Amino acid sequence: LKEIKNICCIGAGYVGGPTMTMIAAKCPHINVNVVDINDNRIKAWNNPDTDYIPIYEPGLASLVNEARGRNLFFSTNVNQAIQDADMIFISVNTPTKTYGVGKGMAADLKYIELCARQIATVATSDKIIVEKSTLPVRTAEALKRILDNTGNGVHFDILSNPEFLAEGTAVSDLLNPDRVLIGGEETENGRLAQQALVDVYANWVPKDRILTTNVWSSELSKLTANAFLAQRVSSINSLSELCEVTEADVDEVARAIGSDSRIGSKFLKASVGFGGSCFQKDILNLVYISKSYGLNEVADYWEQVIIMNDYQKRRFAKKIVETLFNTVSGKRIAILGWAFKKDTNDTRESAAIYVADYLLSEQAELVIYDPKVTKDQIFSDLDYLGSRSTEENRDLVEVSNSPYDAVENAHAVAILTEWDEFVTYDWSKIYNSMLKPAFLFDGRRLLSDELMREIGFEFYKIGKG
Ligand code: NAD
Ligand code: UDX
Repeated sequence: LKEIKNICCIGAGYVGGPTMTMIAAKCPHINVNVVDINDNRIKAWNNPDTDYIPIYEPGLASLVNEARGRNLFFSTNVNQAIQDADMIFISVNTPTKTYGVGKGMAADLKYIELCARQIATVATSDKIIVEKSTLPVRTAEALKRILDNTGNGVHFDILSNPEFLAEGTAVSDLLNPDRVLIGGEETENGRLAQQALVDVYANWVPKDRILTTNVWSSELSKLTANAFLAQRVSSINSLSELCEVTEADVDEVARAIGSDSRIGSKFLKASVGFGGSCFQKDILNLVYISKSYGLNEVADYWEQVIIMNDYQKRRFAKKIVETLFNTVSGKRIAILGWAFKKDTNDTRESAAIYVADYLLSEQAELVIYDPKVTKDQIFSDLDYLGSRSTEENRDLVEVSNSPYDAVENAHAVAILTEWDEFVTYDWSKIYNSMLKPAFLFDGRRLLSDELMREIGFEFYKIGKG
């Protein structure tokens, strides 16, 4: 059995950065090199002031401080890191394809393939390759063919080790995972490679939480886990609308069903819709794979999770327009929260982007405040949609550094991320600085209806009539 002394991770993003930091922190005897082609990202990871590392996650900066320069290194020298490594994690992005066959559905595997070709070209000693990115089932087969046919005759073992961390809680998820999943080939070499990775995790993860399986089950389990989680959110969101018309309260319904141990209480929080870089992408991918095997009923079943989510975002935006006397043209609407969930600066697929876009199409003027998202990111998210010119976006949208400035003279406030600080605001002060009637739309069920109505707000919250 080969003892792992040098790990390389290709991709220093939301997964590669935190997972490798945890491995380095927990395994001081292993050298961990995290590499990326994005020079700015690597510079930011190397910023002496860890307040400026590229990813905001509670607890991450102090872990980086502990390990960086000791056995954790960030660099753009991909070839050197590949050459030095016994084990190579591939943690590059696998976004939804935006062109060609499978456009808007399939995962774009070009970054994965580029990594495989680069590893094959560079490696002159045997390596264990670990799929950390989320990949369609049977990707390992393609990787193996590339590695074996273009390499220098060295031996590659391929493992699937999908990552289950959620953003905003990445450090605690990595520290104390429900399980670590490692899929390997059912051959002698495959078993040895699997054991080598088990031994890395066993430095801090209890053995009974390290599950081993075959490669295909492992790859498919990741897409399935995200599909099940997202399905719960779409299920409760579908009922949020029924609650609104029947005077039921969706949190009460969630509490009642969640107490059934067969259902469980997590992932039943009604919201303006799920966002993030994973749920939509992975379900679309599952739908695409099912269709490609001719399993149309399976594909339709899972596609409904996305259809419901799109509907929930649109329904919330439409509710704002209808409530504001059917027009928001020229009206100032303050948006609190732009990240796709609290405790992260990630905005990929955030519901806020789509709600904002809908309101802008109705000619609203928006003022946006988020505690962690930069102005550049907000404009880049809106520009990326291509719904209007960059000039128009800048004319219609203002980004504010202060929630109290953002709400001043606003016709309405909409809460789109569940940041804790929103609950602690002086809502009377906010009410007083707004135009009347002052409308408040709570897309995250953060605020108390009684309190807000007492202050004087016209208050709407998802899932309550
Ligand atoms: P990301 O976009 O934050 O990071 C990917 C990084 O890979 C980028 O910095 C990019 O520059 C780099 N990269 C791309 N091609 C490269 C190459 N050839 N050589 C070197 N670097 C290269 O993406 P992410 O959020 O970290 O996601 C990575 C993978 O993990 C995806 O497959 C995703 O589905 C999966 N995943 C993500 C999460 C999450 O919470 N974000 C959770 C579980 C799994
Ligand atoms: C998800 C999976 O949870 C994680 O295991 C996987 O590795 C990556 O994808 P992430 O997208 O980072 O993680 O965050 P998650 O906590 O799952 O939230 C996703 C979206 O669903 C967010 O927009 C969140 O606000 C929303 N959500 C979640 C709800 O609206 N209600 C809920 O009850 C839970």
